[in-house]
Formats: sequence, C-alpha cells, structure tokens
Amino acid sequence: MGDQQCQERSYLSLKIYPPHSFSQKALIDTQQKYKALYKESIDNPELFWGKVAQEIDWFKPWEKTSNGELIHPQWFCGGSLNVSYNCLDRHLKGNRKSKRALVWEGENGESLTYSYEELTKEVCITANVLKKHGVGKSDTVVIYMPLIPQAIITMLACARIGAIHNVVFAGFSSKSLLERILDSGARLIVTADGGFRRGKIIPLKTRVDEAASLSNQIKKVLVFKRTGSAVQMIEGRDYWMEKERAGVEEFCDPAVLDSEQPLFILYTSGTTGKPKGIVHSSGGYLVQTAFSTKMIFDLKEEDLYWCTADIGWITGHSYVVYGPLANGASIFIYEGAPDFPSFDRFWQLIEKYKITIFYTSPTAIRAFIKWGLQWIANHDLSSLRLLGSVGEPINPEVWMWFYRHVGKEKCPIVDTWWQTETGSILISPLPGATPMKPGSATFPFFGISPEVVDEQGNPLPPGRNGFLVIKGPWPSMFRGIYKDENNYKKIYFSRIPGVYFTGDGAYKDEEGYFWITGRIDDVINVSGHRIGSAEVENALVSHPAVAEAAVVGIPDPYKGEALIAFITLKEGYLASTELVQVLKDHVVKEIGSLARPQEIRFLDTLPKTRSGKIVRRLLKEVSLQGRITGDTTTLEDSQFIDKIGKI
Ligand code: WT7
Repeated sequence: MGDQQCQERSYLSLKIYPPHSFSQKALIDTQQKYKALYKESIDNPELFWGKVAQEIDWFKPWEKTSNGELIHPQWFCGGSLNVSYNCLDRHLKGNRKSKRALVWEGENGESLTYSYEELTKEVCITANVLKKHGVGKSDTVVIYMPLIPQAIITMLACARIGAIHNVVFAGFSSKSLLERILDSGARLIVTADGGFRRGKIIPLKTRVDEAASLSNQIKKVLVFKRTGSAVQMIEGRDYWMEKERAGVEEFCDPAVLDSEQPLFILYTSGTTGKPKGIVHSSGGYLVQTAFSTKMIFDLKEEDLYWCTADIGWITGHSYVVYGPLANGASIFIYEGAPDFPSFDRFWQLIEKYKITIFYTSPTAIRAFIKWGLQWIANHDLSSLRLLGSVGEPINPEVWMWFYRHVGKEKCPIVDTWWQTETGSILISPLPGATPMKPGSATFPFFGISPEVVDEQGNPLPPGRNGFLVIKGPWPSMFRGIYKDENNYKKIYFSRIPGVYFTGDGAYKDEEGYFWITGRIDDVINVSGHRIGSAEVENALVSHPAVAEAAVVGIPDPYKGEALIAFITLKEGYLASTELVQVLKDHVVKEIGSLARPQEIRFLDTLPKTRSGKIVRRLLKEVSLQGRITGDTTTLEDSQFIDKIGKI
C-alpha cells in the first residue's frame, strides 16, 4: 500500500465537528435537531413537504400535497405558481429591491452587478423578446451560452412565460447541440457571438450555424453580443438581442402555471448511446431546491454565494440559479477558467468579492492541489464561512486539503450527493449540525430515505458495498425522460422494483454514514461530468477507420476517472500515433472536448460474450492491472486474454 493510501485509510475514522462559531448561528445547530426533524419528515412526508411548500409563493394553493407515486410522481397537485416570480418579483416587495441578485465577472476582467429590481426588468424584457418571436407556453427553447448574466436571464425569461428551457453546455460540439435540439423539438435557440475560455473565443454562433444547417427545425436564433467577434447573421433567422429588446415592454406578466408544468429539460448521459432528456417540474422542483439551498448552505441574508458550476449542468440549474434566487440570495458567477490568466484566479475572486460560500467540485480542488499552495498563500480568504463539494466522490485527503488550506479549519464542508434526475441534493451534511467524515456525504436530507441494497433489493449490513437506491418519492424528482417512457421505467424502476435506482454503488458504515463509491453502470464520471461509454463508442465508430470500439473509465488522480478507448480497425487501416490523434480529435468534434479519450489502444478483437456484448469490465481490469481476474467463461474469444496482454 502506498503512502497516500495509508493516509487515506487513517482519514476514514476521522470525525470533524462543525466549528462552534458556525453552529451558533446555524439554522440547524445540533445533530439531535436534525434527527428529530428528519424523523418527522419521514414519518409524515405529506405534512412535512406541505409545510415546506408554504415558503414559496403560490398563485393558487395546491389541493393535494402529492399523488404518492414513485413513477410519474406529482407534487402540490392543482396548485399554480411561477418560478421566475418566486425568484424575482416576490423579493421586490420586501427590502431586497436593491439587494444584489447577481454579481458577474468575465474572464477578461469585466464585471457587472444586477440588483433584484434590475434582474427582474432584464428578465421581463427578454421574456417579451421571446414572446415577440412566437415563443409560448410549453415551447422548448435551447440556450447555448457562455456563463454570462444573459444566460441566467434567458432561463428565467423562459420560466416567466412557461417555455421549457433546454440548456446545452457551451463545451458541447455542434453535433451534440444538434442532437439535443432535435430531440427536444426546439425551434428557437438563444446564443451569443462567443464566450471567453483561457483567453480564446469559443465560437458558439458558428457552432449554432453548423447545427442549424443540418436540419430545418431551427427557425430562429437570438444572439447576445459578448466577444464582439464577427459572426454570420442570416436574414430572417438570426437576430441580435440588443436590437430586439428595443421597444419591447419593460414588464412581463408572469404566466400562471400548473405545479406540474415542465420547467426544463436537461440532457445527461446514460448507459444507452443517446443522452437522456431529463424533465423537471415547476412546483416540486422549486420547493425542494429552495429548501435544500437554505438548509444545506445555511443561507444568510448577507451571504455572497458562489457555486462554480456552469448552467449547462444540473448543479448550475438548481444551485446557481433556482435554489439561491428563490431564497433572495446574492449569487456570484464567473465566466472563465480557474487557471486564467494565472492559477490563483479563484482566490483572487474570493478575495475581491468577499465570497462567503464556495461550492465547487473535487476535480477543481485536485487541480488546486496540483498547482500548489503558493497560489493561495497571498490571498485573504477570510470572508469564507462554508465550503461545498459536488459531482464525484471526494478523496479524504483532498477533503482535508480543502478544509485546511481553503477553509482554514473554520469552514464546514458539505459533500453533497445527488444527480441530474434527483433535481436537488439528497445526501449531505447540514453544516451546523453534522459531524463530518472526510469522503462521506454523511446523512440523508429531510424527506429522503436512501438504502444500500443487494441485487434483490435486500438492505445490506454496514460495511457491505451495494446499490444505492431511494425509497419513496420526493418533490424535485424528475418527471420522466423526454419522449422515452420505456427507458424511464427500465433504467430507474425495473432492476429493483419499488425503489428509485441511482446507478451508484455505496455502503453505510456502523454509524449510518453513507459512502458513495461511484457509478456501477457504464457511465463514466470524468471531472464530475457524466459520459456514457456508448456515446464515446458511437463517436469512434463513426470514423471510417474504426470497426469496433469499447470505452472504459479508469481512476485518474485529477479527473476522478479518465477515458480509455479500445478499438479494432477496418481493413486497410494501420495503427499509428497520427491515427490516435485523429481519432481523439474526431471524438471532440462529435461530442465535445470533455469526451476526449486519454488513451486509445488498438486490438485485433474485442472481448465479447457469446451473445455479442462487449465485456468492458475485462478491458477495465486490463487497463488497471494488466491481467484478468474476473470470470471469463462466457467470453466468445478466449484468445483475447493472451492478445490483450501483448499491447
Ligand atoms: C453522479 C450524478 C448533481 C451533481 C452533479 C453531477 C456522482 C455526484 C457526488 C458526491 C460522490 C457524486 C454520482 C452521481 N456524484 N455528487 N458528492 N459524491 N459521487 O450530476 O451529472 O447527474 O451526475 O455524480 O455518481 O450518480 P450528474
């Protein structure tokens, strides 16, 4: 066992109590209080969530708290509300009119601040522009934007008129964008002329043009100016937002929407070759994201809250936009890369803006560790009072580094476990109450009953690794996969009937702490982003040189997992370092840079079962240890093991 592993082992028994100074002012300040309220929430979920839902504004109260179903759940049935009204207008009535809603810094150093009043006005104007261009209730709008205020404004503008947004991460290629446009049925895209990343311009509008040229579904493209770079504008299809906003009304009535009205679709990778359009509701989603933000981040009126996620991911939806704004919080966002122009950009931002809550990913923290303490040393981070981690398991020693060097042992860390499908955080410490164990997401949030079970669904004793499942519905649970009822039922509710199947492995320790060990399906978690093996394989075989491909994830010290692709070539093609480069670039073009394989290895045959299924497990083992230990009796080509040993 290496030194590092030894150290990690010793951290496993460590328990760190919330600093007294933090607990004193916390919403939930003892573990006893957490336990009592948790029990209440599980004993009578209807009563519990009914009370929580009163914290947001309803135009019409709901008649029934929920339909009680796990599959196709409905919450706050019969109630009507507007999500943008809850995130904006209702704060204007109190004393938050001039409170900062949104503070932004661009990668190039530009900065903007919007008060709640200003943000409301901008959202109304954008909503009116959307309406002018024919967008109405339940229409899908694709948002393909850099992390600038207008991206959030557009999301809220959709919510205001009952349109369904489909945010596509700006790192995705035009092909991935097209796939998401087509599946979601969008006819209008909102984009920008570009965005800044490591000093370069991401050509967003050009990629939209490429996508739109491959289908006649896109009728309109609304373009925000960000970089000032030259872009092509097609008459009758493309419109500059700056021009379109002139002359529209400055107020837009918030649409009165049913609690179950879809708020957004967000695509995420799964085990199939196609990304899944995860559909979220309005009422249940808002109630739980708002409540969990308040409790887990222990929000205070004077906080400046920074979640570093992009709005292209669920974390950006729930914990950059909807949860914090529903609470009337001040949020901070930053457009660019953490290492641009230098490795201390994040620390500069925390110091300059006096950020109080900092929520980021283990991948980012591992990069900070790699860059070295000298980048932190000269910055005053004393404004920080709470830290958070999300997206992938955090190694105990990475947790300790974050705790010591960023939080200076004064800030609790909330290691929050959840998924695109769950809508909000389901397992996490409460910062003022929960004794933390580095590497453990600790205990379930209110109203959530997770369990670790075996293949048959039987609960496992402490220490035994099994499947993480959730018993019973919760308000922010996704409502389906867009236009894919079969997979919705198959993926999440069939393997173990009666519960929600997360796709994660986990165990509970003797004290009931949950430890998430990672995905147990063919989903690979690279830098906190989900990538389906099958999607990368499809991209590889779409290249003329590739006959077959199998992609696996192996542990990576920085990215959590790294992609390793095994391929066989078609007749007439030879393995070479040039071809490796060509194939890597091809994957980037097909999917986006986040799916670039770290390694490509050539084989003359892939291991398959007799029914023809590629056995990725074997390839993973080979990548990890160069030999095979698992069961290989169902393999078609027993020669494979000898062959693979030679590469
Ligand atoms: C998968 C969900 C919603 C968060 C952003 C990613 C992994 C997420 C943790 C954590 C261990 C985590 C799981 C999960 N994951 N948070 N705190 N500890 N693993 O959302 O893209 O839907 O991915 O991310 O494997 O299933 P996502």
